[in-house]
Amino acid sequence: MKISHIKQEINFTPALMERIKELLSHYPEDKKKSALLPVLHDVQDAHDNWLSIELMDKVAEILEIKPIEVYEVVSFYTMFNQRPIGKYMFEFCQTSPCCLRGVENLMDYTCEKLGVKVGEPTPDGMFEVRGVECLGACGYAPMMQLGDFFHENLTPEKVDQLIDDCKNNKVTLHDK
Ligand code: FES
Repeated sequence: MKISHIKQEINFTPALMERIKELLSHYPEDKKKSALLPVLHDVQDAHDNWLSIELMDKVAEILEIKPIEVYEVVSFYTMFNQRPIGKYMFEFCQTSPCCLRGVENLMDYTCEKLGVKVGEPTPDGMFEVRGVECLGACGYAPMMQLGDFFHENLTPEKVDQLIDDCKNNKVTLHDK
């Protein structure tokens, strides 16, 4: 697990605590750990889309589990970020059907257009590109995820349009 030493402002607002309480209500009192995944999603969404060690420790405290139990989940799933990431994270599926339909060329195209390498945010923190495993939309390859939404049957023209829309603040990242 890579540890980020960047300081993160931690703010468990009343609305976030209310949401966590609601999630916990779905599980028995002594099985709070079962709510770990949805709680982490909500906590990450409320903290600029990344989870510092301090934030994970706070989640562990709320769920009454060991910090290592949070770290191992966060470091396993690519949807959790352990460092600040680009606001618009283009997550291209790199599994075989998407590869056969040219996703690697599209990633190269996108990186070149943004002037970045995979896994490095643009200097202004707006964009980042990364490869992920199959997202379950193989019939619409090549595809990527941006926030909560899928963008399918991608072409360079569609990528251009998406980048323009992001720059013009026309892209919604979350479905709630
Ligand atoms: Fe890309 Fe499944 S292979 S979505």
